[in-house]
Amino acid sequence: MTGMPQGLALAVRDLAAGQQGLKESAGRISAHYRQSGASRDVIGGSTDVFAYALSRMPATYAAVSAVLGELQLRAHEFTPEGALDLGAGPGTAAWAVAETFPGVAATLLDHNEAFLAMAGALAPSTTVGTIDLRRGELGVFELGRSFDLVTCAYALTELNDDEMPAVAERIWRHCSGLLVLVEPGRPRDYQRLMQVRDRLIGQGATVLAPCPHERPCPLVEPDWCHFSVRLNRSRDHMRMKGGTLGYEDEKFSYLIVARPGIGTRAPGRVLRKPDENKFSVTLAVCCKEGLEQRVVPSRDKPAFKAAKKLDWGDAV
Ligand SMILES: C[S@@+](CC[C@H](N)C(=O)[O-])C[C@H]1O[C@@H](n2cnc3c(N)ncnc32)[C@H](O)[C@@H]1O
Repeated sequence: MTGMPQGLALAVRDLAAGQQGLKESAGRISAHYRQSGASRDVIGGSTDVFAYALSRMPATYAAVSAVLGELQLRAHEFTPEGALDLGAGPGTAAWAVAETFPGVAATLLDHNEAFLAMAGALAPSTTVGTIDLRRGELGVFELGRSFDLVTCAYALTELNDDEMPAVAERIWRHCSGLLVLVEPGRPRDYQRLMQVRDRLIGQGATVLAPCPHERPCPLVEPDWCHFSVRLNRSRDHMRMKGGTLGYEDEKFSYLIVARPGIGTRAPGRVLRKPDENKFSVTLAVCCKEGLEQRVVPSRDKPAFKAAKKLDWGDAV
């Protein structure tokens, strides 16, 4: 299980302390996001921003952290000096990047001033080096420089189908190293991410993860490529969600693409929870040749032991 660093979680809690109407706002925000609604229609002032930070930020942070873990496996030596977080909200992905690469200089861009204000207030409780807050639109921003690492988490999902490809190219132009896109783990968002993937490959990007190849995705509807991360729910988080479970599973889809020469793709990826019994482990694997079902029998002891350690999303 994973969670936000304690200092960051406490800073969110302190900022939100005493705010009225947070639970109602969190309920409205969740219902709106479930319908694929954009933040601009549901997040107005600081109450909504605090409600987002208490109810959604822990999960988006966990998803981004999981993807950054994969980034480190795929590109061991990569250490960004400058990072750009687009559709930054309260800085979720930027803070996960700073946790992975302490001292990084982060630029955060969003069109919502209340989110940027919260990001600015949270920065001292993170391991970021410096921050530069920019108000801007994903469709037109131009920063006049590129960044080693660019993240865009749960923000492309808010764009219309027809504006997404051009935004993806604009984002790519701002990236000199690795680009990390994280989206909700829904069929719609996966399909759109695959369009972005095609577009970026056309622009010379190398796909590092999750795909072990650059051919079209072999999954066929109703299947879709997505992953899951389990996170602890704090008391505040549980109160916002109105539930009693001490954890939640966040489903996400993602893409890590690189400028040529950075990182190495994995030969294969486990696409769902392995099916395990005392006789065998069955793995659904995406690999260069397409989709494979690998059955590892218990009589092959070393392979069986290794297969039992594998989980959904792992590289093989
Ligand atoms: C669901 S929130 C995600 C925030 C953060 N990245 C996270 O993972 O928690 C989506 C963010 O994208 C921003 N956003 C959406 N469309 C945008 C646009 N066209 N230009 C700039 N920001 C945008 C919203 O203001 C919001 O902060």
